[in-house]
Amino acid sequence: MKYLVTGGAGFIGSNFIRHVLGKYKDASVINLDKLTYAGNKDNLKDVENDSRYTFIEGDICSSELVEPVAKGCDVIVNFAAESHVDRSISGPGSFIMTDVFGTYVLLEAARKNDCGFVQVSTDEVYGSISEGSFFETSVLSPSSPYSASKAGGELIAKSYSETYGMPVLITRSSNNFGPFQHPEKLIPLFITNAIENKALPLYGDGLQVRDWIYVIDNCEAILAVMEKGRTGEIYNIGAGNEFTNLEVTGMILSELKKPKSLIKLVKDRPGHDKRYSVDTSKVRELGWKPSHDFRRALKETVAWYRNNRAWWEKIKSGEFLEYYRSHYYEKHGLKEASQ
Ligand code: NAD
Ligand code: DAU
Repeated sequence: MKYLVTGGAGFIGSNFIRHVLGKYKDASVINLDKLTYAGNKDNLKDVENDSRYTFIEGDICSSELVEPVAKGCDVIVNFAAESHVDRSISGPGSFIMTDVFGTYVLLEAARKNDCGFVQVSTDEVYGSISEGSFFETSVLSPSSPYSASKAGGELIAKSYSETYGMPVLITRSSNNFGPFQHPEKLIPLFITNAIENKALPLYGDGLQVRDWIYVIDNCEAILAVMEKGRTGEIYNIGAGNEFTNLEVTGMILSELKKPKSLIKLVKDRPGHDKRYSVDTSKVRELGWKPSHDFRRALKETVAWYRNNRAWWEKIKSGEFLEYYRSHYYEKHGLKEASQ
C-alpha cells in the first residue's frame, strides 16, 4: 500500500506515519508537508532513513506540485491543515486557504490519479453541545474560523464522493494528546510551562469540556475506517474521556508535583465552545475501540515532555516565541518569567 500523507510533519500526521511504517512492512509513505510553524522534521527523525519513507516539502494548495506526487499512490490521507483555533481568530486567511482550497486541490489530484481519499476532520465542526453527544448525521454548526474551514473542507470531500463516485472517507476526531504535539495546544503548553514554573493561562472559568483521545488510538481508528469503513461515510472518533480543562490542568500539576498557584484564569477565547462530545458507535461497529487509559497515557505524555526537553525548547525559543509572548503573556497580562 502506498500512502500519500499530507501534513505528516505535524503532530498527528507524524504519529500516523511512524505507526503505519511500524505496523505494515509492505507500506510506503510519501509525506508532503509545507513545514509551517507547526511542521517539524524532528518529529520523524527516527524514520527519515527508512527506504519506505519519502519527505517532500511543499504546499497542498499547489496543483502543479500535488498532482504528480499523487500519481501511483493508493490513498491520500489529508492531515495538512492550519489547526489552532486561537490562530484562526487572529488570522483566518491561511485557514480558508489550506483547510478548504488545499483540500480541493488534493481531491482533484486524487480524482485524476484514482487514489482513495481520507479527510481528517474534527468534532469541532458540530459546535458545542450542552448534553448528550453528536451523531454523524447531526447538523454542522462550527463556531470558529478554524472549525468552519474544516467543515468546508470535508463538505467538498463529501461532494466528490457523491458527484464523482470517488472513494472518500471522513473522520471527525475529538482532542488528541501525546508525544510531538506543538506546545501551543493546551496539554503540551501546560506541561512545558509547569516544568518551567511559568503561568498556565486557563481561559474563562476553565470549565469547558473536551473528550481526550491518545493520538495512537486516533491513528488506529483512522486505519480501521480506511480498511473497513463504507465509502462516502463519516466516522466520529472519540474515547469518552470527558474532563473540564481545570480537571486536566489539575492532573498535569499533580503529576509534575507543581502548585495550583501556577494556574491563572485569563480572558476567555472568543466564541469558545463549552463542550464537545461525539457518539462513537459507528466507528466501534468496525471493531475499533480505544486501547489507552486516559490517566495512564497522560502520565506517559507528561514523562515524554519531561524527557524530550530539547524538542520543545527548540520550538518555544524559535519563531514561536513572539507569538507565544503576545498571546500567552502580553495578551493576558502575565509575567513571562518563572512565577
Ligand atoms: P498540526 O498543526 O500539528 O500539523 C499540521 C501539519 O500540516 C503541519 O506539519 C504543517 O506544516 C502542515 N501544513 C499546514 N499547512 C499546509 C499546507 N498548505 N500544505 C502542506 N502542509 C501544510 O496539526 P495536528 O494537530 O497534527 O492535526 C492534524 C489534522 O487533524 C488537522 O487536519 C486537524 O484539523 C485534524 N484534527 C486534529 C485534532 C487534534 O486534537 N490535534 C483533532 C481532530 C482533528
Ligand atoms: O476537538 C478537536 C480539536 O481539538 C482539533 O480539531 C484542533 O485542531 C485542536 O487544536 C483542538 O482544538 P481545541 O481548541 O479544543 O484545543 P486547544 O488545545 O487549543 O484547547 C483545548 C481547551 O483548552 C480549549 O477549551 C481551550 C483551552 N485552553 C487552550 C489553551 C491553548 C486554555 O484554557 N488555555 C490555553 O492556553
